Amino acid sequence: MTISQDGETAGGLRKEAAPSGDADRRDPGVFRTVHWVGDAAAGRLRMIDQTRLPSQFVEIDCDDVESVWGAIKRLSVRGAPAIGVAAAYGAVIGARSGDHADPGAIREALRTAAAHLRTSRPTAVNLFWALDRMEAAADAAIREPRGPLLERLLDEAHAIAREDRAMCREIGRFGAELIEDDDGVLTHCNAGGLATADYGTALAVIFSAHEQGKSLRVFADETRPLLQGARLTAWELVNRGIDVTLICDNMAAQVMKEGKVRKVVVGADRIAANGDAANKIGTYGVALLAKAHGIPFYVAAPSSTFDLTLADGSGIPIEERDPREVTEGFGLRTAPEGVAVYNPAFDVTPADLITGIITERGVIRPVDADSVRRVLGTPKLES
Ligand code: MRU
Repeated sequence: MTISQDGETAGGLRKEAAPSGDADRRDPGVFRTVHWVGDAAAGRLRMIDQTRLPSQFVEIDCDDVESVWGAIKRLSVRGAPAIGVAAAYGAVIGARSGDHADPGAIREALRTAAAHLRTSRPTAVNLFWALDRMEAAADAAIREPRGPLLERLLDEAHAIAREDRAMCREIGRFGAELIEDDDGVLTHCNAGGLATADYGTALAVIFSAHEQGKSLRVFADETRPLLQGARLTAWELVNRGIDVTLICDNMAAQVMKEGKVRKVVVGADRIAANGDAANKIGTYGVALLAKAHGIPFYVAAPSSTFDLTLADGSGIPIEERDPREVTEGFGLRTAPEGVAVYNPAFDVTPADLITGIITERGVIRPVDADSVRRVLGTPKLES
């Protein structure tokens, strides 16, 4: 996708650029990763273009399904819960291409949009979960009409975003209990406010412990090849005034050996019924290192990231991305033309390497199918 000089973009996207350097001066917690502007009939989806961070803070607007699909695909919006929220609003945009006076036409347009959005990225289950919810909401609204269908759909998308914010706060609250004063905490990729509707999952644990006055030193893995740790996690932590030290991925073992890491906390994109957890490529290696050094390894994720249809992690689809992310990331060629490249975007950490999974309903520990069932079986949060 190209962004033209005048701010108009292909595929119905419009960009709004903040003044240069603005990204370094964001107040913590004031940015909105993904939100809706306007009413159901004419509103639009606005999101931070995360591919531009940390050097530029740019928001883009989407008012057609193709733009939403493209924004998810190229990682303008990324992180499992944020992808789900963006897709829910994308479904509203898709639904309104049907005749607004005909609920059947709106339902059909929603189905078509959802089917397309489902093809954007395969691993984060939140995408499919959110679209299933939108389709179920449409069916319920048609069965029991109460007000215009498009508005009911927008209400459902808002509910998904609102619930995500609430779940992240609870994850922070439960997770902070596991963090002790003066802990060194290592994280991988970005599971912060940028990856969710607000506040994050793994970073929620860190934010919450910091807000409680605990002194922390965070080590952020840079996270090759797209550097979500360097570009996004470091940006969020610096903006909040939290002590963060950036390391290259291959430095984690040394930092652990030096005794600087007492906990690892990461996010997840899809967790199977037995607790096997898919997250950004490299997470499995970090879990093995943590085990070798006797360091507790925690996964933080909302219930919307669990896929209980999968008995274990072997069935989790792993996205493979463009080889150019490895050979010429960020415009600089770092490998010879023609070299073979393998670029899986995620890996699966087996449950037996995970000390606990921090959810909005409590901590799953030990990590096994019985504990997953027990904790996820508890009542949902009121949103
Ligand atoms: O490819 P990305 O940037 O979407 O990958 C994101 C991650 O792997 C995150 O750790 C995960 O989605 C958890 S987000 C709270």
